[in-house]
Amino acid sequence: MKAIEIKPGIYWVGAKDPTVRDFHGYKTQRGSTYNAFLIVDEKVCLVDTVKAPFTDEMLSRIRSIVPLDRIDYIVANHAEMDHSGGLPEIMKLAKNAKLVTSPNCDANLKKHYNTNGWNVSQVRTGQNISLGKRSLTFVQVPFVHWPDSMVAWCAEEKILFSNDAFGQHLCPNGIFDDETPRDVIFEECAKYYANIVYPFANQTDKALEAVKPLSPEIIAPSHGVVWRTMVPQILAEYGKWVKHENDGSALIVFDSMWESTTKMAKAARDFFEDRGVPVRFCSLKTDHISDIMTSVLSAKYIALGTPVLNENMMPTMAGFFTYMRGLKPRAKIGMVFGSYGWNFRLHKEMEEQLKALEWSMPVPAQSIKYVPTEVEIDAMHAAMEAMLQK
Ligand code: FEO
Repeated sequence: MKAIEIKPGIYWVGAKDPTVRDFHGYKTQRGSTYNAFLIVDEKVCLVDTVKAPFTDEMLSRIRSIVPLDRIDYIVANHAEMDHSGGLPEIMKLAKNAKLVTSPNCDANLKKHYNTNGWNVSQVRTGQNISLGKRSLTFVQVPFVHWPDSMVAWCAEEKILFSNDAFGQHLCPNGIFDDETPRDVIFEECAKYYANIVYPFANQTDKALEAVKPLSPEIIAPSHGVVWRTMVPQILAEYGKWVKHENDGSALIVFDSMWESTTKMAKAARDFFEDRGVPVRFCSLKTDHISDIMTSVLSAKYIALGTPVLNENMMPTMAGFFTYMRGLKPRAKIGMVFGSYGWNFRLHKEMEEQLKALEWSMPVPAQSIKYVPTEVEIDAMHAAMEAMLQK
């Protein structure tokens, strides 16, 4: 397998995983890549590795450029196994290589692997290594998206090796952003942000402020395409996401037992449509929670519906609710609704948990006994007017 040159002397030596469909619970319909990069200068430097089963693919691409004993530095920007899985093998084979990583990542790598015998050099923000004509400067970006996350900046080439930031779970035909339809890339980038980076918006905002003045010409993340033609666009998208901007749309997410909550969900959809608000309508019986999160990211209004089942949510809603709360979406106008038989405390409890996310909840939880009547739907519509007035 061959390396792909991204600039003279700088190569993509990662691996493609077109058939992966689950990434710790995130549905990856378009596969993924584990991007590693090789800089060949007076010194040879590998930036990140790949998921363990793809190590041979990475080694083969490196060997297409240099023998492994020519590698002087291996940079580990982040300890998560999709980028560090190849480290044990390459640290064994690249006998002259020094591992360059942050103190935090070094500690985390020790918890994942037997690092005895590894030659490690710890670096902190602002420190750099010279490769000859080029250098790499390191910036720790804690919680984007692990505490150990770091990026590497090559000022001479204006390339940012951004690790998980700006990535997408997408397995493109080529490797560059102009080789895959733009809509596909940005859709997957939004999904990635919503499912991976979302809880760390404040930290990502700070990282973004540090990156923008560098004016990178290339951003090389550790998943998906290498950005070379749409760098300003992806920085702008991140700029909106970290500020919790929305597109003014409504999102309805629900499950139902005997279709009563479906009736309420459809009534909520009609409410928004009648007022010209674009609506996304997601049944938890058919839509995957990681896809729904992309709509959570862009929505202004979010209505969550579940019937009461043994004083609790439907299991599908319980799973989604837990997942979504963990990702900490902010600046939403929310509503909870659903049918019940004899106990309706649940909807109020859900409402309180959404308030704890600092959502605005102007409509009291809408609980309807058994099957909704027209009068009850009219009352729900009337109550929902308060959402639009926010
Ligand atoms: Fe792609 Fe946080 O690993």
